[in-house]
Amino acid sequence: MLKRICHALGTALCLALLCGNVSAKDEKPVLRIGCEGAFAPFTFIDDKGEITGFDIDLIRELGEGLGYEVKITVYPFDGLIPALMADNIDAIISGFTISPERAKKVDFSEPYFLCGLNFLIRGEDEPKFRDLDSLKGQKICLQIGTTGSLFAQKQLTGSELKQFNSPPETYLELLNRGCSAVINDSSVNDFFLARHKGEKVVAVPIDKDIDKEYYGIAVNKNHPEMLDTINRGLKQVRANGVFKRISEQWFGHDISSTLEE
Ligand code: ARG
Repeated sequence: MLKRICHALGTALCLALLCGNVSAKDEKPVLRIGCEGAFAPFTFIDDKGEITGFDIDLIRELGEGLGYEVKITVYPFDGLIPALMADNIDAIISGFTISPERAKKVDFSEPYFLCGLNFLIRGEDEPKFRDLDSLKGQKICLQIGTTGSLFAQKQLTGSELKQFNSPPETYLELLNRGCSAVINDSSVNDFFLARHKGEKVVAVPIDKDIDKEYYGIAVNKNHPEMLDTINRGLKQVRANGVFKRISEQWFGHDISSTLEE
C-alpha cells in the first residue's frame, strides 16, 4: 500500500513520509537546512531578524523547485557537522568549503561557488603587511573551524591565533587593535570592506595555490538519496536561470562561469 502511495507521490514526498517529515497528506515534505548566521553575503540575519543571503535564496529556490518546504535553522559554525551527523538536519549550506578533511565525515554536492582566502588589515598598516610572510609573529583573528583558521594554523606557526565564533567579531577585534589581520574567505572579507568604506581597512590577497576553494552543500553520508536530490536541484536552478538571477542579485553578475573552469 505504502509502495503504491509512494509511487503516486514521487520520491521526495515518499521519503519524507517514511522519515516522518510530513504531517498531513497535503503538506509538503520538509527539507531541514542548517547554516551559521553571520556570514554575509551568504548566510546572515537581516534588519528584520530574518535569515537571508545568497546561500539562503539558493537553497530555498532549490528545495521549493523540488517540491519541498525549506526550513532553516541557525547553528554555531562548528555545530553544523555534528547536527548533520546526528540527523537533526538534512543538509548544510553556509559558505561551506569542500575539503578532503570534511569529506571524510560528510558528502558534498557539486560546487556552487568559487572562493579563496585573503586577509584584512587596518589601512595604516598597509606598508607593513603586504604578504603572508609579513604576518608571521603577528596576532591573527580567525573564525573557529573555518578553512581560513586551518590555513593559518599551518602557514603561520609562531603567530598568535585568536579564534572567534563569527566574522563580525573578528572585524571588531581588528578595528579595536586586538589583532593585526583577519584571515577569512575573500568573498566575505570583501563584502565587509564594501559595506564599511569609512573604517579604513584594506584587503590583501594571499598569493598561494591553496587560495582556491569551492563551496558545496553537505549531506549526511548515510543518505545518498539526499545527495542526489540536492545535485538534481542544483542542476535545475542552473538550467532554469534561477541561479543566474540570484547571483546577479547578490554579486552584481552571474557567477556560473567561475564554476566551469
Ligand atoms: N568557507 C570557509 C569554510 O568552509 C568559511 C565558512 C564560514 N561559514 C560560515 N557560515 N560562517 O571553512
